[in-house]
Amino acid sequence: MALFGLGKKPTTFGLDIGTSAVKLVELVQSKGGLALKSFATVPLPRDVIAEGTIREPQVVTDAIKECIEKAGISGTSAVISVSGREAIVKRVPLPKVTAKELGDAIQLEAEHHIPFAIDDVFLDYQVVSQSANAMSVVLVATKKVKVLEYVAAVEAAGLDAVVVDLDAFAIQNQFELSSPGGDSTDAVALIDIGASVMKTNVIHAGACIFARDVPFGGKRCSEPSTTSPRLRSRNGSARSSCPAAVRS
Ligand SMILES: Nc1ncnc2c1ncn2[C@@H]1O[C@H](COP(=O)(O)OP(=O)(O)OP(=O)(O)O)[C@@H](O)[C@H]1O
Ligand SMILES: [Mg+2]
Repeated sequence: MALFGLGKKPTTFGLDIGTSAVKLVELVQSKGGLALKSFATVPLPRDVIAEGTIREPQVVTDAIKECIEKAGISGTSAVISVSGREAIVKRVPLPKVTAKELGDAIQLEAEHHIPFAIDDVFLDYQVVSQSANAMSVVLVATKKVKVLEYVAAVEAAGLDAVVVDLDAFAIQNQFELSSPGGDSTDAVALIDIGASVMKTNVIHAGACIFARDVPFGGKRCSEPSTTSPRLRSRNGSARSSCPAAVRS
């Protein structure tokens, strides 16, 4: 029995700060697996988040607070994720090194693979396979400024961002938890088309082999363009700027 809650795991919830809306999900373990305990979503006005940047932090913070209230959440431990072109994922082959040497080897590799100054990124990695003399590592880097911007919006709402993941890996976690064929030997492409960013993650044998975020999303289809004269219809109203290939 846990006394005064000591030893109890803090209850976390997922907070998805997307371009079009803030979404919150709380799952609980039940007999049949994970069950949805709470869910809420609060739309964000246009351009509050644009080109991957939080332009109006107070609006995002207010939406987070509203989401918490709607979902009836009492805990403060939020798990969030970020996406965008600043998120770099590379699967890198390395010669086998000891756990002690790995940190230095990763730093060295990162300088070759990450197109930003190493001091400007948060870097993380996971060894996904190894043999007698080689290993394969998934290297992840994302701009510190972006992570801190999202964390600040969460903290301003009175919460702690206890985990900051990438959207692409959050989808992978979800797939692995919910897919009955999750241990299949086939490669699986996971694609999340958001309002402004498309996240892709190709996984094989439980590990990411390729992940990239593309700056294209549903907003391009659902919001008419008002700026390009080329995209205006004959009666003068603006037409969707969605490419034909996506429309069909
Ligand atoms: N019923 C629907 N039919 C078609 N498209 C829809 C529908 N509902 C939402 N969408 C599209 O999905 C988008 C919202 O998706 P989602 O909530 O995943 O985006 P987001 O997380 O806010 O954005 P991002 O991850 O790109 O920052 C909307 O912009 C819209 O284009
Ligand atoms: Mg999203």
